[in-house]
Amino acid sequence: MEAMTFVLFGSTGDLAKRKIFPALYNLYLDQKLPSAISIIGLGRNQMSHQKFQHDVEQSIKTFSRRMDNDHSHLDTFLEAFRYSVLDATKADDYRNLLNLVREREMELNIPGNRMFYLSVGPDLFGPIALNIKESGLGSTNGWKRLIIEKPFGRDLESARELNATLTEAFEEDEIYRIDHYLGKSMIQNLGSLEFSNPVLQTLLNNRHIANVQITASETVGVEERAGYYDKSGAIRDMFQNHMLQILMMTAMHIPKSNSPYDIRNEKRKVIEAVRPIKKDEVSLEIIRGQYRAGEINGSSVVSYRKEPGVDASSQNDTFVAARLWIDNPYWQGVPFYIRTGKRMAKKSTRIVIEFKNSIKTGKSNRMDPNLLIIEINPNEKVSLQINSRNPINGKIEPVNISFSTQQSDIPEAYERLIQDALRGDSTFFAHWKEVEKSWEWVQPILDAFREELVPLYLYPAGSNGPEAANALLNKDGFKWWLDE
Ligand code: BG6
Repeated sequence: MEAMTFVLFGSTGDLAKRKIFPALYNLYLDQKLPSAISIIGLGRNQMSHQKFQHDVEQSIKTFSRRMDNDHSHLDTFLEAFRYSVLDATKADDYRNLLNLVREREMELNIPGNRMFYLSVGPDLFGPIALNIKESGLGSTNGWKRLIIEKPFGRDLESARELNATLTEAFEEDEIYRIDHYLGKSMIQNLGSLEFSNPVLQTLLNNRHIANVQITASETVGVEERAGYYDKSGAIRDMFQNHMLQILMMTAMHIPKSNSPYDIRNEKRKVIEAVRPIKKDEVSLEIIRGQYRAGEINGSSVVSYRKEPGVDASSQNDTFVAARLWIDNPYWQGVPFYIRTGKRMAKKSTRIVIEFKNSIKTGKSNRMDPNLLIIEINPNEKVSLQINSRNPINGKIEPVNISFSTQQSDIPEAYERLIQDALRGDSTFFAHWKEVEKSWEWVQPILDAFREELVPLYLYPAGSNGPEAANALLNKDGFKWWLDE
């Protein structure tokens, strides 16, 4: 891999400590970093290089999934780190940063390849990108790249504005928008599953599939993020990005090649084919929920409105379920049900594909349909539910054929994504067109929520969400699978 500088804005923040430093360290242990790399951390407070290296060391010791035994690798790794103080809006600070970047480029013989990772609040994305341009940091003989994380705007208009600013300083193919769900190994496996299994290629379409269900349920509540979450809700926090990305990855047709262009092109065709929803029809297709007090794993938890920092009369959504239609020849007529929520019965991210079922046993149609189940988190597992005769009682019963990956040594999503960005592979990053189309689809829902056109159903913490989310499927003759 080419030698490079990795500039980290927000290097004293939580994400840097928990994810980014451990990811870089694990890549280093696997020899997946370039042999010459200069890593420069930035933050608002003055700090010596040594103190910064010490903090990085602590975060690695606390959060890394592995450690080298005698720490000799860790010591060498830490030598790559330097620190510079930076107020994101002060031009002078960027000039100092440029000097440090150049100095290290000379020392380590780095040919001007510069990665800028913005691990900061979204209001700083625009100002930082412009300052990178104006300070000369972005004018280099090598390549330059920008990594940012969601949220990419808070509605269609602000997302477009943000993108217009970013593209003043970086080209689209220099921008790597992280959606960490795209870094999960089972999500990355979706394309391969279909590509490498002719039996699935034959079956995954509207001739054989009855419906597709995508669930991302969490047991955690709003935690310490009320300030952000109460203004965002599940629709912005999870649905517009992670859930629609899973939808694209699940429904996309096999790309012509494995190139980022072809894969993202197929994803884009999916989001473009999702039937738009009108504001006054939102209440028919979307269920909005908020958790009330309840019990999770034997402990009582308070209602959302009683969480610290949440407005006592908040109408914010902590749960969203939706029915979508993809109007293309493969999926026409197959409902896709998507739901996500906080304080639900269990942590589970999964896709369940239900096959059509015309076999009747006896008088009523009692036989379970075949299901293809892809578990993404916390288990990574693919299983196919088929029916088989129980040799003891003679009944036809569902059984599972399954495959699961060993958990321990799988690289984390951040490791995979950072490595991809370092080598310039944008396959598993969100392209602007995907982001824009996702906001376009979600915008009428945001409007309908704001105008109170959609009921807010309260659901007990520890449940599978409001009853209305069950009714959404029941009216089509289906039910959510794998709910306990
Ligand atoms: C984040 C959301 O993007 O994803 C959080 O902001 C959410 O609210 C998290 O908890 C879930 O991620 P994961 O990987 O635990 O499913």
